Amino acid sequence: MPRLFEPLTLRGLTVKNRIWLPPMCQYSCEGRDGVPTDWHLAHLGARAQGGFGLLIAEASAVVPEGRISPLDAGIWNDAQAAAWSRIVDFVHTQDAAIAIQLAHAGRKGSTHPAFHGGPKGSLGAEDGAWETVAPSAVPFPDLAVPREMSREDIAEAVVAFAAGARRAQGAGFDAVEIHAAHGYLLHEFLSPFSNERTDEYGGDFAGRTRMLMETYRAVRAEVGEEYPVMVRISATEWTDGGFDLDEAAELAALLDAEGCDLIDVSSAANVPAEIPVGPGYQVPLAAEVAGTGATTAAVGLLTEPVQAEQVLVNGDADVVLIGRAALREPAWPQRAAHELGLDWREAPYPKQYTRGRWGAG
Ligand code: FNR
Repeated sequence: MPRLFEPLTLRGLTVKNRIWLPPMCQYSCEGRDGVPTDWHLAHLGARAQGGFGLLIAEASAVVPEGRISPLDAGIWNDAQAAAWSRIVDFVHTQDAAIAIQLAHAGRKGSTHPAFHGGPKGSLGAEDGAWETVAPSAVPFPDLAVPREMSREDIAEAVVAFAAGARRAQGAGFDAVEIHAAHGYLLHEFLSPFSNERTDEYGGDFAGRTRMLMETYRAVRAEVGEEYPVMVRISATEWTDGGFDLDEAAELAALLDAEGCDLIDVSSAANVPAEIPVGPGYQVPLAAEVAGTGATTAAVGLLTEPVQAEQVLVNGDADVVLIGRAALREPAWPQRAAHELGLDWREAPYPKQYTRGRWGAG
C-alpha cells in the first residue's frame, strides 16, 4: 500500500488517506456577506469526489474586518455556518473529511480580490474599504496603514477565533485549522518585521507567540478533546531578521506539547522576499518541524504522485497538501492511485465511477 493511501488518525477523526487539499480562497462570496455559494459546493465537492482524504476549506474570516477582500468567506455568523453545513454534508457523502481554516487578515485585509488582471492593493472608500488592524501601525508594502491593536482588541480577536471554531464544529466540519501564516494577523504577531510592540504581545519569542498560543488554547477549550485543531505557519520569511525556522520549530514543539494535532508548514508572505521556488521547495521546512515530533503537513509545488509519496516515505511529513495541481486536476488522488499501482478496488473512487473498472484500467 503506498503511504499516500494509509489512513491517519487525529484524535476522534480518522482520515482515509494522506492526500489533502490545502485551503485556497475562492473570492466567490458574491453577496459580500461571507456566505459560501454553489461555487464552493462545486469546487470542494469535485475534490471530495476526486478522492482527497481531507479538504481544508479556504481562509474564512472570524470577524468581518478579518477578510482579505469583500468576497472572502466567513464563519462569524450563523447564516455562514448554515451555508457551510450544506457543503460539509455533501463532502461527507463522498467519504471525505473537511476542515475549515479560521482566519484574520490583519494588515493585509481590505484589499481587492486577487484575481489575475483585476485591480490590486487596498480598497478605496468607494469599494467599501474598512479599517485594518495589526500588532503595530506598520503597513504591508503598498497597502493601507493598519491601526495598532489594543489589548482589548487582541482579547476580542482571540474570542472571535474560538467562536468561529464553535460555529465550524456546529456546521459539521471535522476539524479546524488556525491560519498563522502568510502575513495575516497571527503571523504579523510572530514576526519582528510587523510586530514592534513593547507590551507582553511583542518583543521576545514568548511575547510574539503569545497571541497564537492564546488563540490555540481558546479554540481547544471551545471544541473539546476529541476534535482536531491544526495550525498553519510560515516557517520562514526567507529574509534575515524575520520569524525563522529555528523559531518555527520551537513554536511547533510548544503547540505540539499543548495538543495541537498537526502543523501545516508553509512559508513567507509577511514581507517581500526572494523565495527559492521549485518542486517541493518547502518540504525541508516541514522535515525540520517534523523533527520536533509534531505531526506535519508538507505543501508547495508537490505535483507528482511519486514525488509526494517520497515525502512520506522519507518521513519529511505525515500528510501532503496538493494545491494548484488539484485546481488543474480535481481527481489527482485517483491518478496517484493509478500511477502508484493501487488496486482500483482500494482506490478512492466514488461508487458511480467504478462501473466498467472490472476490466483493465
Ligand atoms: C492559496 N493559498 C492559501 N493559503 C492559505 O493558507 N489560505 C488560503 O485561503 C489560501 N488561498 C489560496 C488561494 C489560491 C487560489 C492559491 C493558489 C493558493 C496557498 C495554498 O494553500 C498553498 O499553500 C500554495 O498554493 C502552495 O501549494 P501548491 O499550490 O504549490 O500545491
